[in-house]
Amino acid sequence: MKKKISRRMFLRQAALTAAAATLPLSVVEVSWGAGKSRNFTFAYISDSHLTHIQGAKFVRNFDQGLKKAVTECNFMSPKPDFVVYGGDLAQLGKREELEHGLEIMGKLRHPVKWVIGEHDYYLDLGKFWEEKISRLYYSFDHKGIHFVVLNSILTYDSWVKRWATPEERMANMARLDNPNGSPFMVKDEQIAWLKNDLAGMPKDTPIIVMSHSPLYKIFKPWNFWTEDAEKVQAILQPFEKVTVLHGHVHQILYNQIGNITFQAMMSTAWPWPYPPSYIQKPHQVPKLTVFMNRADPFHERDATGWSVLDLHDGRVVNNFKLWENKDRVLKFDEKLGYPIDVEYQEPTKRIPPQQHY
Ligand SMILES: [Fe+2]
Ligand SMILES: [Fe+2]
Repeated sequence: MKKKISRRMFLRQAALTAAAATLPLSVVEVSWGAGKSRNFTFAYISDSHLTHIQGAKFVRNFDQGLKKAVTECNFMSPKPDFVVYGGDLAQLGKREELEHGLEIMGKLRHPVKWVIGEHDYYLDLGKFWEEKISRLYYSFDHKGIHFVVLNSILTYDSWVKRWATPEERMANMARLDNPNGSPFMVKDEQIAWLKNDLAGMPKDTPIIVMSHSPLYKIFKPWNFWTEDAEKVQAILQPFEKVTVLHGHVHQILYNQIGNITFQAMMSTAWPWPYPPSYIQKPHQVPKLTVFMNRADPFHERDATGWSVLDLHDGRVVNNFKLWENKDRVLKFDEKLGYPIDVEYQEPTKRIPPQQHY
């Protein structure tokens, strides 16, 4: 049966369609579902690894990566509602590095939501971060979306206590492929907090969780791994629309586990390789992920970047801003039930990553 629509409704619809045709999607605020969530845009910068040399000297390349992302965020039109910093602002957690990071990030003309990374944490166990930057875990609501920030880079107490100095502890957590490292954890106290935070929330509330490490298991020797990820997933799984955004892996990586979509954010500093292109050990790199091309070492910004995320119908459309590379767009496909790389799906046009083990 054809639905009758009133002239007033028709005009309203026509006005919305006209607006959608002329304005970027993110400024068209269309209500959906129960009418409580609206579309908006935010930006995501992660893993800058600002590295102190001595005095006022820092590694130039990493400074430039963050400065470039901040500048581009300031030029965004329409403005993002906020910018997320995804962790690893510092390289060795030094006060000089964190203060330097705050100075560069201070040029942003938008509010910032902070996520802590292991490089920010393991020198003073998050003291400076908590005092001067942000709480380590918290939640907030924005235009119908429930956001949760987790501190996912905790680990076993026995490991934290085994080092003679904070510097030694930091250096051992900072190293990739370190047999003396320790896997990341959210830990029970925070898991209980999360359970309580989500208790009683309608199951159709879209949820976005932001953590530094991936909240699933990819490759333990490199610590692309959260030991108690399944406990966190079990709390999130009953919700219909859940997206986890994480940093740490410095590459495009995406996965779907039940109702939960996972998307990795780019680093502004350097790319890590994909484990299967580098090692011949068992791994759980998601089959869904179409790998990025190998980074070109002659372009200092190649395979680094940042993201603009459009929140559309409670789902994330992730527009990667890849410097020296073609942009890619990750979008949740409602029919398939997982995210697809809409700008990169044509198999004949893909360049396979180079094997280098
Ligand atoms: Fe990092
Ligand atoms: Fe990290």
